[in-house]
Amino acid sequence: MVDEDRRSPAAVVFDALGSEYEKAFAASAAHRASLEWLLERLEPGSRVLDVGSGTGRPTAAVLAAAGHRVLGVDVSPVMVEIASRQMPEGEFRCADIREMPLGDAAFDAVCAYFALLQMSREEQSGLVRRLARALRPGGFLVLATVPLDVEDFDGVFMGQAVRVTSFAAQDITALVRGAGLTVLSEESVMFTPTHPDARPEPQLFLHCRLDATGPAG
Ligand SMILES: C[S@@+](CC[C@H](N)C(=O)[O-])C[C@H]1O[C@@H](n2cnc3c(N)ncnc32)[C@H](O)[C@@H]1O
Repeated sequence: MVDEDRRSPAAVVFDALGSEYEKAFAASAAHRASLEWLLERLEPGSRVLDVGSGTGRPTAAVLAAAGHRVLGVDVSPVMVEIASRQMPEGEFRCADIREMPLGDAAFDAVCAYFALLQMSREEQSGLVRRLARALRPGGFLVLATVPLDVEDFDGVFMGQAVRVTSFAAQDITALVRGAGLTVLSEESVMFTPTHPDARPEPQLFLHCRLDATGPAG
């Protein structure tokens, strides 16, 4: 039994949601289209980091099925257990990405689908810069978020109390550009999770490439 007080707020929320999260977001056509965008650009056998890998579906499962080597990292032990069970051939690590060392130029691509929202703005900015450094020059970052100008907003997500911090769309775009990434395409959609307590939410998918000269700073 995990001591509740020692888990990060994100782990508390996503330990409680587990597979409910996967079911609620399974119908996201924008997420699938975003993965297709990445698949069209990856060399065979690419090394991909999936930040906040959740249950492993759809991201790690789709990329692995196409022959890529995916490392999924998630702070929620329950999510990592589900992902490992659903994809025994996958590599999933239970860790807080804010504290996990990432090698320089270690990955051909990094995905971060809705994984930053329980971090402070400073942490999100610092993480995007670290993720850029973890990419090889010319590598890809796919970042999806809920583009709202909110800081420490106390809300309810699928029945769970959550504290959310995010950026307006133009500010998250400026942040990734400041890290040395070029935004090649972006998709804005409204999505309603399949859950009785869910409300429509704005989603922003940014498809980016690290400049050949490498990360900024
Ligand atoms: C909204 S869910 C998205 C899951 C998956 N990326 C998807 O789109 O289906 C966010 C995931 O990020 C994880 N997460 C949040 N903060 C994290 C952190 N600091 N380090 C690692 N994982 C984190 C949560 O545990 C959760 O599984």
